[in-house]
Amino acid sequence: MIEITVNGRQHRLDVEDDMPLLWVLRDELGMTGTKYGCGIGQCGACTVHVDGEAQRSCSLPVSAAVGSKITTIEGLSPDSSHAVQRAWLAEDVPQCGYCQSGQIMAAAAFLKANPQPTDADIDTNLSNICRCGTYPRMRKAIHRAAA
Ligand code: FES
Repeated sequence: MIEITVNGRQHRLDVEDDMPLLWVLRDELGMTGTKYGCGIGQCGACTVHVDGEAQRSCSLPVSAAVGSKITTIEGLSPDSSHAVQRAWLAEDVPQCGYCQSGQIMAAAAFLKANPQPTDADIDTNLSNICRCGTYPRMRKAIHRAAA
């Protein structure tokens, strides 16, 4: 039995210790906003926050998140009004949209640590992949959210 806290709610789950957090979120808790892309920690589609840090949940065993506060895209803001989400809408960032919840979670954690980033800071620190190539709009949205 594993006990985890997701978006402020505690859950007791009968899952293996080494089950990736991504599958616990999606398959056990029904939170499908967090996406599966590569499954090997490379693309960032599965990004969530663990104690405020961006983590790739496909390669994080659920046991590693016990005792931590896990936040998913569903819990980033109760009404989708986080500054990053508002900026994403204002800049019309998504194209297909698949990677975007991971992008938003990565950007939100990044901005907390780097409130006034330069383009170089953004390019160096944010490595989530977008196959549609929305990088220029994401960069603009990050600057908008930082303003
Ligand atoms: Fe986790 Fe790609 S699905 S990094």
